[in-house]
Amino acid sequence: MDKKIIIAIDGPSSSGKSTLAKDMAGEIGYLYVDTGAMYRALTLYALRHGCMEKGSVDAGRLQGLLPGIRIEFRSGEKGKRDTYLNGENVEAEIRGMEVAEWVSPVAALPFVRHDLVAKQQAMGAGGGLVMDGRDIGTVVFPQAELKIFLTASAEIRAKRRWAELLAKGGTASYEEVLANVEERDRIDSSRAESPLRQAADALPLDNSTMSRSEQLSWLLEKYASVIRS
Ligand code: CDP
Repeated sequence: MDKKIIIAIDGPSSSGKSTLAKDMAGEIGYLYVDTGAMYRALTLYALRHGCMEKGSVDAGRLQGLLPGIRIEFRSGEKGKRDTYLNGENVEAEIRGMEVAEWVSPVAALPFVRHDLVAKQQAMGAGGGLVMDGRDIGTVVFPQAELKIFLTASAEIRAKRRWAELLAKGGTASYEEVLANVEERDRIDSSRAESPLRQAADALPLDNSTMSRSEQLSWLLEKYASVIRS
């Protein structure tokens, strides 16, 4: 039986982390954890409970609400894992533009990060996990056996996200999506608390011109060499 490792996939927004992480987890029978979904669900809760006002987040109010927020993943159809917020399936709602516009300021709050990072570490305690996010290889699992830093140009990332939104019935323009991708890159990379950056021992992959199956084959090869070592 192969040893169970932790695979950390980090990178900027819409770089294809969740597609790669999901494909990989399915291929090798690992659990997949989308940490972005956790930040998004928490942001949705904050929006619904009046924590956003005049362009900023009421951090004091949100901190007080934190004990009442329960985020889980449950299996849906065809092996799909949906995000639940206090027992409600919020998978579709957390992918919309309103959450996208607020998630980076919320994710920059230190008390939010401490809470969610502790939950993520508990999920990975036994290994056998693919986790994607911004700080998995640097903060959540600095000891992960395999770390990937996935990138693609901002235009390509915005095109992917735009196509995804349209397919789900969204109406945002390409320009709006590109602006959101660039703004989140800026906030995520410049925040004081665990900013988005490549871990020193992460393997970089620019997938701008790679297909889904090409990026999966690339990762399977890296995984095989870690498992053999
Ligand atoms: O899917 P996309 O790449 O657009 O973003 P996501 O992975 O769903 O993450 C949404 C937002 O959550 C990011 O823009 C970050 O602000 C935040 N995030 C974070 O700070 N740390 C993580 N480990 C994951 C997400």
